[in-house]
Amino acid sequence: MTKKLYVKSYGCQMNVYDSHRMADTLAPAGFVETATPDDADLIILNTCNIREKAADKVYSELGRIRELKDAAASGGRRVTVAVAGCVAQAEGKEILRRERAVDLVVGPQSYHRLPEMLERAERGRAIETEFPVETKFDHLAAPSRAAIARRGVSAFITVQEGCDKFCTFCVVPYTRGMEVSRPAAKIVAEAERLAQAGVREITLLGQNVNGYHGEGVDGRASTLGRLMHRLAEIPGVARLRYSTSHPCDMDDSLIAAHRDLPALMPQLHLPVQSGSDRILEAMNRRHTRADYLRTVERLRTARPDIAFSSDFIVGFPGETEEDFRDTLRLMSEIGFASAYSFKYSPRPGTPAADMNQLPEAVKNERLQRLQDDIERHQAAFMARCLGLTFDVLFEKPGRHPGQIVGRSPYLQPVPVVGPPSLIGEIAPVTVTEIRVNSLFGTLADASRQTAPSFAEAVGA
Ligand code: 5AD
Ligand code: SF4
Repeated sequence: MTKKLYVKSYGCQMNVYDSHRMADTLAPAGFVETATPDDADLIILNTCNIREKAADKVYSELGRIRELKDAAASGGRRVTVAVAGCVAQAEGKEILRRERAVDLVVGPQSYHRLPEMLERAERGRAIETEFPVETKFDHLAAPSRAAIARRGVSAFITVQEGCDKFCTFCVVPYTRGMEVSRPAAKIVAEAERLAQAGVREITLLGQNVNGYHGEGVDGRASTLGRLMHRLAEIPGVARLRYSTSHPCDMDDSLIAAHRDLPALMPQLHLPVQSGSDRILEAMNRRHTRADYLRTVERLRTARPDIAFSSDFIVGFPGETEEDFRDTLRLMSEIGFASAYSFKYSPRPGTPAADMNQLPEAVKNERLQRLQDDIERHQAAFMARCLGLTFDVLFEKPGRHPGQIVGRSPYLQPVPVVGPPSLIGEIAPVTVTEIRVNSLFGTLADASRQTAPSFAEAVGA
């Protein structure tokens, strides 16, 4: 009998990947995904704990789900509610105590146990938040061809989980545990399976993905750079990306991969968090502002058309106006193509939560100033794209009839008028108009390209 499964993902792309793998693992038990919680037999919230706001969302969503579950029960239909992800890991017991609607709580390392936990949950509430000795990746089911096709031409593969860096603001080492890398052979097999089902772009994921050190095909520890070289050989794989990286783990092999592999996209998310050496030290980032600038320079030498994006935290304990100005200065020095900025949010159990906190008003004011700057740089980067020709990977039909939408190498959405047969293909587009975050353009005739490419425009 088919049952309906609704999974909602919060937070990072690793949660999106995990949600897919949970759905794949539940498929043999008869679960089919549905787009709304209203008719679901099983609801899974895959939660995020990175900032207070992200964690709070879980409880408000659970309140709504409780009403839905009660309404279904009065009509004689049973709805099972599961909380997964990083909040489940961090405060599983608290969730069960606070919310009677929750039937099971499952931490990120135990998703392979879901089918068995569901059976247990029929008799009483179930919780798994251990870090079991077996790895979930060896037990989670692979997606079917149909599931891969439904999810589109761009796919994720988690290659590494956990983090040993212990930045003083961050909960990840506590919720996802120590760094574990998957063996290269397993990743290659997963990538081949995706490519055979039509996937053209693969993003490798990890909380500290460039710290990857999984077993290589030769039995020795590999690096992300070497893994990239191997993945680039897979027929059909046209684009490779990876996220999220730590500046200290940008090693020679990875920088060489940026130089040598056209499939490795010239866009890199490299969080810096702050431009002040004093604050970087208090955050235990293990690098200085100068180290970061040097890494960016090395990457630009390897791949001159590379664009950077970053994460920033403002209002970290002890941050002075001068420290904050260092961050603004770094923003202009590098000219990030895009960036995310966050107000520092104290997370229970992390060292910075016990430091002296800045007033909320100061944090708000700095966030606003940084966001204004980010917007200006983002707009400047978009403006530079006007009139250039980009390779676009087409992903889906557009909002208007006759339109298809793809992405540039820099992840900008690119809607054009074009045939649906181009979906899954890469074709050059000349940008004719910029609207907010999208590049509008026309399909360029590959044989008669007139407009310069971005690489040519930056002198690559
Ligand atoms: N407060 C605010 N932002 C945080 N981040 C991580 N922890 C915190 C925190 N306690 C931000 C960092 C990280 C991104 C994923 O979230 O910028 O790179
Ligand atoms: Fe959120 Fe971090 Fe967990 Fe991802 S790993 S879901 S960002 S807390």
